[in-house]
Amino acid sequence: MRLFILGATGRTGRELVDIALARGHQVTAFVRSPAKITRRDPRLALVEGDPLGVEELSSALPGHDAVISALGPLPRQAMTRTTLLEESASSAMTALPRAGVRRFLIVSSALLFPGGGPVAALLRLMLRPHFRDLKAMENRVRAAAIDWTIARPPRLVAATDERYRAEPGALPAGANLVSSVLSWRAVAAFLLDAAEGSRHLREVVGICR
Ligand SMILES: NC(=O)c1ccc[n+]([C@@H]2O[C@H](COP(=O)([O-])OP(=O)(O)OC[C@H]3O[C@@H](n4cnc5c(N)ncnc54)[C@H](OP(=O)(O)O)[C@@H]3O)[C@@H](O)[C@H]2O)c1
Repeated sequence: MRLFILGATGRTGRELVDIALARGHQVTAFVRSPAKITRRDPRLALVEGDPLGVEELSSALPGHDAVISALGPLPRQAMTRTTLLEESASSAMTALPRAGVRRFLIVSSALLFPGGGPVAALLRLMLRPHFRDLKAMENRVRAAAIDWTIARPPRLVAATDERYRAEPGALPAGANLVSSVLSWRAVAAFLLDAAEGSRHLREVVGICR
């Protein structure tokens, strides 16, 4: 596939690039700082651009089979003020149809599932700007007439395993919103599996280890 990745310099994004190349895909990493990516591969194209820029996206997107977004705000912004996810989703939802790309996959958060008790409530409060932004982002994506998939993982951890379980509409059985975890690499594996297999079209999917 020809994959277009947003957030390719981040922790999920780097794993996306790594697994996608290992699986033989053509990858375009659309990033604001190409110098942050030192990897070189004939199937990896580095394109400098702003994921909020509709015109830049529209001209870089044609010819791709799917867009995968793993953008995320800095921790400080997540607690103070951020509209990164809503604005980038809004730009993507305008640019994809213009460029004739139908498939869009994006990382959200399991905190948007109800429940989780007082600890989850506290997290939602502490991360209120990010929580609002995630909800607004999902609303933009869900309203778009494209084949979207929204992945909602719990807390992410560094590990090399690609193991995940996935359940549309909820975290998989036995998972706990506060104590369950998933590796950044497994989030990437889930998104790539869904893109390759045309799975979870127009679904919000809970994923965990
Ligand atoms: N961390 C967790 O435990 C957790 C749990 C559940 C869900 N999530 C979600 O998972 C997503 C990805 O997380 P992650 O940990 O992989 O993210 P990350 O490592 O912090 O990477 C964030 C990416 O977003 C880009 N970015 C940030 N601000 C930007 C801006 N203003 N303009 C353009 N690009 C910008 C960064 O690019 P630069 O390198 O150029 O800064 C980077 O590529 C996030 O949306 C987060 O909500 C995280």
